Amino acid sequence: MIYSNKMRELTKEQVLTIMTHYENDPQQLIAVLLDIQAASGRNYVERQWAELASTVLNVPLSIIYDVLTFYAMFSTKERGEYVIEICRSTPCRFTKAEEVVEWFEAAAGIKTGETTPDGKISLLRTSCIGACDIGPAVKIGDHVFGSLTGEKVKTLVKYCREGNEEGLRLLCQN
Ligand code: FES
Repeated sequence: MIYSNKMRELTKEQVLTIMTHYENDPQQLIAVLLDIQAASGRNYVERQWAELASTVLNVPLSIIYDVLTFYAMFSTKERGEYVIEICRSTPCRFTKAEEVVEWFEAAAGIKTGETTPDGKISLLRTSCIGACDIGPAVKIGDHVFGSLTGEKVKTLVKYCREGNEEGLRLLCQN
């Protein structure tokens, strides 16, 4: 799955495997945390896995939380299976970014910063995602969707709701 993290229960063994993959190297802390977050099914790093990483990588828990709270890409709270990040930087703002926020909020039935009750979609604002030439743009997972229109936004939200990865792949621009 490239756009979302399907809901599933992460196990201690899986978290240990992620760290083993990085040879339990504390220098790889960010990569480890990103993989744990991706494997969580809800796009967040649960406290028990932060504690486990602290023990195995021998990094103080306070440092791990410094990382988790400093970088916007991390969350310590459950988020949607699909995290839609709407660019709010100036070039996109000149290309209807505010309307884009309204379109997404209307289509998803939530406000920015919220998650749909079914746990499918979270809406967030973000800074430039490097797709200014096709703004207004959003990121879903690691993928960029630009030249947004009201119709395209409705379709993106529909595909996220349905878990239609093929539909998302066809609309993706990276
Ligand atoms: S300003 Fe929106 S992608 Fe760069």
